[in-house]
Amino acid sequence: MLRVGMLTSGGDCQALNATMRAIVRTVTNECKDQVEFYGFLDGYRGLMYGQYRKLEWQDVSGLLTTGGTILGTSRTPFKLIHEPDENGLNKVEAMKKTYKKLQLDYLCVLGGNGSLKTANLLNEEGLRVIGLPKTIDNDTWGTDMTFGFPSAIDIATKAIDDIKTTASSHGRVFVIEIMGHKVGWIPLYAGVAGGADVILIPEIPYDLDNVVEAIEKREKMGGRFAIVVVAEGAITKGEKMLNKKEYKAAVAQRTDPSVAYALAREIELRTGRETRVAIPGHTQRGGAPDAQDRIFASQCGAVAGHALVNGEYGFLVAQVAGKMKKVPLADIAGKLKYVDPESDLVREARELGISFGDE
Ligand code: F6P
Repeated sequence: MLRVGMLTSGGDCQALNATMRAIVRTVTNECKDQVEFYGFLDGYRGLMYGQYRKLEWQDVSGLLTTGGTILGTSRTPFKLIHEPDENGLNKVEAMKKTYKKLQLDYLCVLGGNGSLKTANLLNEEGLRVIGLPKTIDNDTWGTDMTFGFPSAIDIATKAIDDIKTTASSHGRVFVIEIMGHKVGWIPLYAGVAGGADVILIPEIPYDLDNVVEAIEKREKMGGRFAIVVVAEGAITKGEKMLNKKEYKAAVAQRTDPSVAYALAREIELRTGRETRVAIPGHTQRGGAPDAQDRIFASQCGAVAGHALVNGEYGFLVAQVAGKMKKVPLADIAGKLKYVDPESDLVREARELGISFGDE
């Protein structure tokens, strides 16, 4: 009998359920039903406190198209993993204990960067762990793609499309803030797909003068409205010069709810144009996975399922140059994948006349 644990950790995304479905289907197929699945509730918390539900084949039926996660999720910050919980419980030991008590053979962790750091730690502690690349942010090192990212691009693009009609009617400038944490993958892709005039991402610090210039240039060319896509983590050239401590202090002094508001105010002041803010926020993580996500999630689950039946573990399921790969967890843990400012897409966006606010 093979016993497989699964958990979804960190911010949710659209294709978590689809990935779990693919793992269950693949392992069940290949093991001829000699397998039990244990789904831990609310991420690593379920593993720590022994809270789980058994998953049968029929539990994952229909999950290909269902967003969110049937197991629930939570954020369990890696930096606190070695600190005891409020009752003095050693979290790492507690997770190992649950794994042993249930006589698990493998643990599949569907998670982003922080969660994969913990996955690597547990793997080093002797658990047999397989990581699956979940995050709308697409910032997981070692893989070109994460599940959640394609659906988030679609939703962010739709938000830009929808804003364009009202922006055009009123002849307004719109600042649309897009998620992505410390990286600019979703804003870059959605910005290009949505035909933004300006895209501001953390990897390319901007100068307000350049943003204003781009908006005015568009107006001179006859554009009735302008769309500025700003990543939630976008920074100015001035902020880039600050050290970590100074930057944190500057962020703490901000009075606006997020970057878009301050930017919109400055744009309105400098251009005299009526400027509005739109923030799709968590809708970018919601709803059903799109077709690309369903396919990638199915591939990830199949690779993980096939590997564990064959006794392989200690890796992240990844896609590199279109091929499915297994990358050691130790190689990816703690690293962030940033947008390359010299990448083809950034260069081509510039060629299209999109400003990144840096020149
Ligand atoms: O990591 C996914 C993400 O949606 C980021 O893009 C965003 O910064 C963050 O999570 C929001 O976190 P929360 O759901 O905890 O507000």
